[in-house]
Amino acid sequence: MSAAENILVRIRVNGEAREALVEPRTLLVDFLRENLNLTGTHIGCDTTYCGACTVLLNGRTVKSCTLFAPMADGGEITTVEGLSTDGALHPVQNAFAECHGLQCGFCTPGLLLSTIHLLKKNPKPSEKQIRKAIAGNTCRCTGYQNILKAIRMAAGEMGKP
Ligand code: FES
Ligand code: FES
Repeated sequence: MSAAENILVRIRVNGEAREALVEPRTLLVDFLRENLNLTGTHIGCDTTYCGACTVLLNGRTVKSCTLFAPMADGGEITTVEGLSTDGALHPVQNAFAECHGLQCGFCTPGLLLSTIHLLKKNPKPSEKQIRKAIAGNTCRCTGYQNILKAIRMAAGEMGKP
């Protein structure tokens, strides 16, 4: 494919303006990882199943292996790299660390973003709402109990005055 057929994709990622010229078929997850070098967003399946590639696009969770990068043009994206502030972990990251909500960590970036989206919409989720919010994120290691504990802890911490 010639360069003339490529598309310029401009997005804001973690508050920073970024752009790259890509083939129209480039998946958003590959754009983030390969073009922008943001490798914290993982690829677990490439078939919209596992949720390892979850990011926030304009405040909503998306599985970034499901979108072509040009579909996100002009959008605002948050990836796991954008969660800490001045070296301090986000409260959801802290809760996952405290509660041992991860083992290999492959699923963790996606779970963090799904949790952040949930708690933004619903700061006091019920157990059922928590389970529903992470239903699209597969974890092969933990058995989920510590993930659920971490999300409950994060909700408590973030809900403090
Ligand atoms: S890599 Fe996107 S859902 Fe699995
Ligand atoms: S911690 Fe290994 S897949 Fe979730």
